[in-house]
Amino acid sequence: MLTERALRVLEAHVFLADPVADARAFLFEMLDPTPDRGDMLYRYEHSLRVAAIGRAIARAEGLPEEPLVLACLLHDIGYRDSLALDEYSRHHLIGAEIAREYLAKAGYDAALSREIVLGVERHCLTDSLPADMTVFQTTVRDSDDIDRCGPIRTAMLLGRCVDEKTDAQILAACEEAVARTKRFAALPRGTATARRLIDERCEKRVSLLEELAAQARMA
Ligand SMILES: [Fe+2]
Ligand SMILES: [Fe+2]
Repeated sequence: MLTERALRVLEAHVFLADPVADARAFLFEMLDPTPDRGDMLYRYEHSLRVAAIGRAIARAEGLPEEPLVLACLLHDIGYRDSLALDEYSRHHLIGAEIAREYLAKAGYDAALSREIVLGVERHCLTDSLPADMTVFQTTVRDSDDIDRCGPIRTAMLLGRCVDEKTDAQILAACEEAVARTKRFAALPRGTATARRLIDERCEKRVSLLEELAAQARMA
């Protein structure tokens, strides 16, 4: 069941001929990053990065590019509504419902739409992936995770590890972050390309955290 707001946005949406440009526009309308909602602009830009990663994996692995880019663009489309409902932990389910309605209204291929909707619905899964989860669906979640361990999120994490902290607190924060990064890096991935990108980004993050920890130990 879509919220009143989501229904209004979908109703007002003017469909473009290009499905990718259209999904981008619809995502922007649905997140509605008004000046007071920098978090929604962040979410929009994150989704564009996830779509670029999904495109690169699709090309490297021979996966269907357009539907994968669409799924990546739409993966967090339920964000604004889930926060408004105080149900962030259901943002993937709310997003899947919005994506289903949107793709049906766009007249997108039914079988591909099902894959896209499942990709959105399953993008938060970590280590226990359903047996019927396809490489396409796993790639949506992998692309999200690759952005989540990329330079921007690493910079945000490093900032939190040091901001106004004593050396002892920095050390503890870094050790905790290294352990979390290693657990994250060990999760199963859908493709060799995703595996490589995650490994590269997590290794870089761990090495920066270890440099920080080493400096905190010097005092
Ligand atoms: Fe998400
Ligand atoms: Fe995301």
